[in-house]
Amino acid sequence: MKRIKSTLVSIFLVAVTTISAQQKLPIYLDATKPIEQRVENALSLMTTQEKVALCHAQSKFSSKGVARLGIPEVWMDDGPLGIREEVYWDQWNGAHWTNDSCTGFPALTCLAATFNPKMAYQFGKAIGEEARYRNKTMLLGPGVNIYRTPLNGRNFEYMGEDPFLSSQIVVPYVEGVQSNGVAACVKHFALNDQETWRGSVDVQVSDRALHEIYLPAFKAAVTQGKVWAVMGSYNQFRGQHCCENDLLLNKILKGNWKFDGVVVSDWGGVHNTDEAVNNGLDIEMGTYTNGLTTNGAFPYSDYYLADPYLKGLQDGKYSESVLNDKARRILRLIFRTTMNIHRPWGSFGTAAHAEVDRKIADQGIVLLKNEDHVLPIEPQQVKTIAVIGENATHRMTIGGGSSSLKVNQEIVPLEGLTTRFGKDFTLVHSIGYSSGKENSAEADSLRNAAIAVAKNADVVLFIGGLNKDPHQDCEGVDRLSYGLPYGQDQLIDSLTKVNKHVVVVLISGNAVAMPWVNNVQAIVQAWYLGSQAGNAIADVLSGDVNPSGKLPFSFPVKLSDCGAHSFGAIAYPGVDQKEIYKEDILVGYRWYDTKHIRPLFPFGFGLSYTSFDYSKPVANRKVYGMNDTIRVTFRLTNSGKMAGAETAQLYVSKPKSAVERPEKELKAFQKVFLQPSKTETVTLLVPVKSLAYYDETKSGWTVEPGTYNLLLASSSQDTKGEASVEVK
Ligand code: BGC
Repeated sequence: MKRIKSTLVSIFLVAVTTISAQQKLPIYLDATKPIEQRVENALSLMTTQEKVALCHAQSKFSSKGVARLGIPEVWMDDGPLGIREEVYWDQWNGAHWTNDSCTGFPALTCLAATFNPKMAYQFGKAIGEEARYRNKTMLLGPGVNIYRTPLNGRNFEYMGEDPFLSSQIVVPYVEGVQSNGVAACVKHFALNDQETWRGSVDVQVSDRALHEIYLPAFKAAVTQGKVWAVMGSYNQFRGQHCCENDLLLNKILKGNWKFDGVVVSDWGGVHNTDEAVNNGLDIEMGTYTNGLTTNGAFPYSDYYLADPYLKGLQDGKYSESVLNDKARRILRLIFRTTMNIHRPWGSFGTAAHAEVDRKIADQGIVLLKNEDHVLPIEPQQVKTIAVIGENATHRMTIGGGSSSLKVNQEIVPLEGLTTRFGKDFTLVHSIGYSSGKENSAEADSLRNAAIAVAKNADVVLFIGGLNKDPHQDCEGVDRLSYGLPYGQDQLIDSLTKVNKHVVVVLISGNAVAMPWVNNVQAIVQAWYLGSQAGNAIADVLSGDVNPSGKLPFSFPVKLSDCGAHSFGAIAYPGVDQKEIYKEDILVGYRWYDTKHIRPLFPFGFGLSYTSFDYSKPVANRKVYGMNDTIRVTFRLTNSGKMAGAETAQLYVSKPKSAVERPEKELKAFQKVFLQPSKTETVTLLVPVKSLAYYDETKSGWTVEPGTYNLLLASSSQDTKGEASVEVK
């Protein structure tokens, strides 16, 4: 009894000592305290050196914490399509770990093509789980630069040409990632819309186009998605590099939008200590990209925000309060992520993540043409399928630059098709062309072999497009031409001469010219789809999944139809590193519609194996005030024989205006799933405030009173019904 008593006493004493030890915990370690208190407390315990040490890289992908205080380092990783493999401390090269093979997710063009914010949340949540499992503080993505020209080598990493669509997709993506206690880092802020001269080109664009077209997705990520990090871009804007751009970082991002997170530089995007210190950058990464340890030729201590910054502070050149602001933001990031005791554990390379990839891919694939219902492929009509094209076997998770991945699995198209069709059909594969060999004798023999295979098949699946090699959808370099590379156009032509049933499956993140558009029977835009690519393509070609993707950017007939290519070199790629966005607010469909140029395939377009009927749209009122929301209601019916989904789109036009207006602009959309012969009543919401234009004369937004036309549409070129309303 005595012994039990004394044991109880000692347990009590241990408990009391633990509690009192906890009570002595400094506030910054006390997870029950609000983050801002913890930030202030940590800051008050730090030396100037320690604060400066937070502000620059210590390795290729990490920056320091405060080891003395037990505050962890910041670890970053690309992004945005999967969690990149571990690299050596000071190099880009993979470090040959055996446990870092990730799930490959679809390119963000595909995600945008789902027109489904729920898919964006699932994407963000799943990729965030992978980042968390790998103990990353920050995912370097998503990218939301606007699709201005089909030549931009990085379009596949972005969400298309429309600021409203990309805003609707980026917000849930960010929320999904950050639900894991991992920061998303929205990039590349801003106007990094081409890769040619990306490190130096100086972009001039009007305030109006800046605010209406190029900034909204970033703004949505900050003000609605509450993103914890933003990456500055390589290029210049009005004569100042964007990682050190006072207008973009201090005035707009941190001032107007009240961003309380961290601005990270793009790797090697910093050029000047004074500007980096004072113009809003918080963490400098990748300067002198071979930059080694403290002993190397370009030590991390030489970074603009390292010793030169410290010296400037000691000399009284820089203010301590600016440094404190940077340190606060970085501490806040760490408390939100690695020092958040509630963050979940994450998971990596799981079957569930592969399923997320496949679902998004299934919903993002766009059916562009389907004559005589050649698709889906049915065993009654078809026995032999010829699969032609190098992309049938090309692994697309590799290449393209910093988004390149080491994945745990990649089902290439041929593999997916074989799994799905192998039992009921005879599949014959021939590569038909080979990258880089278009003018050789070998090219002829490849082509002849493919033609022979195509001749004897019931249907030909040509699987081609681009491939993430340099100039073929790749970071660092733009595409050199709008046409398909490696003699594919010629090959498709030859195939259509020997077989009437040619289906082109394009694997690309960009629009391409299609001189053969009228000669092939079907066209499927299949993007870069990640680990489950082949299965998703087979899902759609077989009809297991009814295609429901819509184009997040227009396909012009030819490059010169495109706004950015209509004003000579000064508008793209620039002259003497200067570039003027002369098409101004008329980007993408805004240009084609307003200038009455018919695109090859319009923004928002995508077919289905079923059909949909729209009833007339009705607005809930005739007259609205500035703070009202317009509610447009209509009935959507699946009038075909197969379950499917339609994305109803609402465009708004303002016929009489004090300023130039695009013919119409997307203001709402909804993806609706319907069983055959079912009808759903759908309501789309348009806040009157979202009808504003950016008024340069007052540097703010103006809603013009008057009549607005609301166009209910199935694509930017296919209006199903109209209503008009008055704004007072
Ligand atoms: C890219 C960024 C990327 C970074 C780190 C840069 O070259 O522009 O998008 O996150 O490298 O890999």
